[in-house]
Amino acid sequence: MIIAVDGPAASGKGTLAAGLARHYQLPHLDTGLLYRAVGWALRDEPDGPDFEAKAIAAAQRLDAAHLGNLEALTSANTGILASRVAVIGEVRVAMRQYQREFARQPGGAVLDGRDIGTVICPDADAKLFIVADSKVRMERRARQLELRGLPVDRYALYHQIEERDARDMANPHGGFYKADDAHLLDTTLLDIEASLRAAIAIVDGTMARKAGL
Ligand code: CDP
Ligand code: CDP
Repeated sequence: MIIAVDGPAASGKGTLAAGLARHYQLPHLDTGLLYRAVGWALRDEPDGPDFEAKAIAAAQRLDAAHLGNLEALTSANTGILASRVAVIGEVRVAMRQYQREFARQPGGAVLDGRDIGTVICPDADAKLFIVADSKVRMERRARQLELRGLPVDRYALYHQIEERDARDMANPHGGFYKADDAHLLDTTLLDIEASLRAAIAIVDGTMARKAGL
């Protein structure tokens, strides 16, 4: 069973995908971490003339099994760098095969990102597209950072999320939209437990329909 979970920044897709993976006992891949790792590799030269060539080289040699420093990867600045490398077509191509192989392992998998239901796994058994109001998303990300003891400038964070969403939506190599057969889940008013319950109901319903039950 392959479950695809897509949606914009801080919509809750990672938490939801991890919960679904636990519930159905499937491995989980947060594909955003792959783009973040490539972005992080370019942290010292974000405006260099070779940005694109270096991003492609970093994507081609990325060892996805050893993503390393999660703390640094999940910072807001790395998120911005990730969205800049994500608009480079060859970066996306370099990481496609790893994601597809992960999805096709025996028993299946849960993948979350932006283009899982559209590009990586268009034949996924169940697809969810997670959305939430942008101020709520900013507040969730702010609390996540504060829990780690990091200082948060909510104004700057809101604009970083907006900048990233805008670049992602305009990505010419994307697939950053809701697949026709994806189920829309708005988590604005839902806590983590309620989102997970709703997602499980959607997945169970989809699987039952496919099995002709
Ligand atoms: O967790 P959050 O939604 O804030 O970000 P993420 O999922 O870690 O993704 C970081 C950036 O990587 C996104 O803003 C996208 O630009 C890019 N990305 C992508 O292009 N394709 C994916 N499947 C996942 C992430
Ligand atoms: O993966 P994505 O960037 O879409 O979001 P996430 O990392 O799963 O969630 C961002 C933050 O929002 C985390 O700290 C979650 O615990 C929190 N969250 C929440 O408060 N309510 C939800 N329904 C979902 C996530």
